[in-house]
Amino acid sequence: MASLVPSLGQLVSDATCLFKKLFNDEAPKIAACAPGRVNLIGDHTDYNQGYVLPMALSLVTVVVGSASSGQEAIIVTASELADEPKKVDLSLPNEGFPSFPGLPHWANYLRGIMHHYRALPLPGFRAVVVSSVPLGSGLSSSASLEVAFYTFLQQLRPAPVPAAAKHPHNMMLPPPRFTFDDGDKVAKAIACQQAEHTHAGVPCGIMDQLVSVLGMEGHALLIDCRSLESIPVPLSDPGLVFLITNSNVKHSLASSEYALRRGQCEKAASILGKPSLRDATVNDLEGVLQPIQANFGQKMDYFLNKSPDNRRPHIDSKHFWSTIKSRAQLDDVTYRRASHVIGEICRTLKAAESFKNGSFQEFGKIMVESHNSLRDLYEVSCKDLDDLVCAAMEVEGVFGSRMTGGGFGGCTITLLKADAIHRTIQNIQERYSGTPTFYIATPSEGARVLNLS
Ligand code: GLA
Repeated sequence: MASLVPSLGQLVSDATCLFKKLFNDEAPKIAACAPGRVNLIGDHTDYNQGYVLPMALSLVTVVVGSASSGQEAIIVTASELADEPKKVDLSLPNEGFPSFPGLPHWANYLRGIMHHYRALPLPGFRAVVVSSVPLGSGLSSSASLEVAFYTFLQQLRPAPVPAAAKHPHNMMLPPPRFTFDDGDKVAKAIACQQAEHTHAGVPCGIMDQLVSVLGMEGHALLIDCRSLESIPVPLSDPGLVFLITNSNVKHSLASSEYALRRGQCEKAASILGKPSLRDATVNDLEGVLQPIQANFGQKMDYFLNKSPDNRRPHIDSKHFWSTIKSRAQLDDVTYRRASHVIGEICRTLKAAESFKNGSFQEFGKIMVESHNSLRDLYEVSCKDLDDLVCAAMEVEGVFGSRMTGGGFGGCTITLLKADAIHRTIQNIQERYSGTPTFYIATPSEGARVLNLS
């Protein structure tokens, strides 16, 4: 059986009860939520400016609270997995006093958001956070926390107020950083991504925060991570299901390996002379190898003056030597990383097209190719994820399955016929040696303000 996801109403009610219990029975005045996500295809492409195809989930983080008159910024988490203390009073950031990461770890996402918030200064506030996104499962619990908290902060001072009108004192002093919220959703996602970089120490791409902000009910989003434009892809066929299987394993390597992969991609792009791997093609990558393999003998003869017919072979020696140099730098690991990213960007576009055309067999086939590439070329899968994919693929009615997100544990995503759901879950339970949990992925709306009355 798929896990039951607590309803949004239930989460808001839980958060409200906790808020009242902690703050003298006062009712919170503001509430906001933001979803976790699952990526259908296009992993490790976002920080290479490629394409991704995620959907926002009905698993959400909810923040309820109220503005307060003082300088306090009190936040309480209801998460049992968060490190202690569960209640923090973070100082409000202001010019000259930026907010730094510290302990407890869970509060770093919030410190980061307060630091990168685009409409400072903030008034004091009290807030409670609850979430149905499983922590550390690769479903973007951190992005949903960042975006939900940002959306909550936007409600503390909702009216746009121009800087000059607000400045109360001597106008000779440099004005404090009064800015107003222009409501730009992409800029909001970027601020949340920055929070993750500077305060959680994870150099993530933009996918998680962007889909948490922009998610659309009934749709996945084909996001161009270069232009940050997104195209909704309808997922409304009632005969189909996307099933999330949580392996419930998380390897500690995940974040250091993530940063390492990012560096390897940057290295590959620079060797290929491209601004990013988005600009590279299979031909560019293979082109570094082929002239050497195909023409090595002929070219060396030329350089040794041994042309059999005494005629100079037609070669561009500058290109030849730069190719030799690139090849020497492009070690096997870097080559394979680049090969995954270049292939995955093409697969993502092809997969989105297949889905739009109703070619679900084709979509499923591309999902499996993506998994194999993440496993063999990018090396971010693990035995648990490989076993889950194999177990799903054994079942009649399953179109495709792959690991999703950063890897090294976390979840798989499987596309199947709706009537195959029970036998798929059963087969995975029988074949997987761990304890999986299942969610039906329901494409949902992005971050939003909730009405408490
Ligand atoms: C993590 C990151 C994303 C993305 C995925 C892999 O979820 O936060 O930015 O890079 O891994 O696709």
